[in-house]
Amino acid sequence: MAATHGYSDKMNKALNEQINAEIYSSYLYMSMAAYFEGLQLPGFSHWFKVQVQEEMTHALRFFNHVHERGGQVTLKAIKAPETTWASPLACLEAVLKHERLVTGLINKLVSLARQQQDYASENFLQWFVKEQVEEEASVSEVIGKLKLVNETPGGMFLLDKDMCARQFVMPPDLTI
Ligand code: FEO
Repeated sequence: MAATHGYSDKMNKALNEQINAEIYSSYLYMSMAAYFEGLQLPGFSHWFKVQVQEEMTHALRFFNHVHERGGQVTLKAIKAPETTWASPLACLEAVLKHERLVTGLINKLVSLARQQQDYASENFLQWFVKEQVEEEASVSEVIGKLKLVNETPGGMFLLDKDMCARQFVMPPDLTI
């Protein structure tokens, strides 16, 4: 690979692994959207479909960064996600656990960028550091609401309407 200054094969491999992790996140959330369709909760399903699209934009950001640095994107198999959860609360708790795992992956990438003095990648990754704070906060908010309504039918009906309000907006800074 014709590496540009500060961009190593090791970083290229790590960023490719993150593309896989972001697409897996999208796939996992699509599975969760299907789970909520089955529960007749279209608002929750909608919320997850928005999440599906957001995760694909994350993958695309990494895809673009790799190419901008003169690297190579090599796509690998995406593992199959789980298909069912014990309850809506258990499902959202699984989301929070997954997002915390992703935060850990981003932090590792930042460490690698610093170690390699790859300041361009470090700067690029800061967007994700901030994004992960927002992701964990938004999931925690849904978990809080689920606990509040205690998964009662009336509460779930109202909360499902609330979940419908989320909208996907294509980030204006993202080139496709
Ligand atoms: Fe792309 Fe939800 O982290």
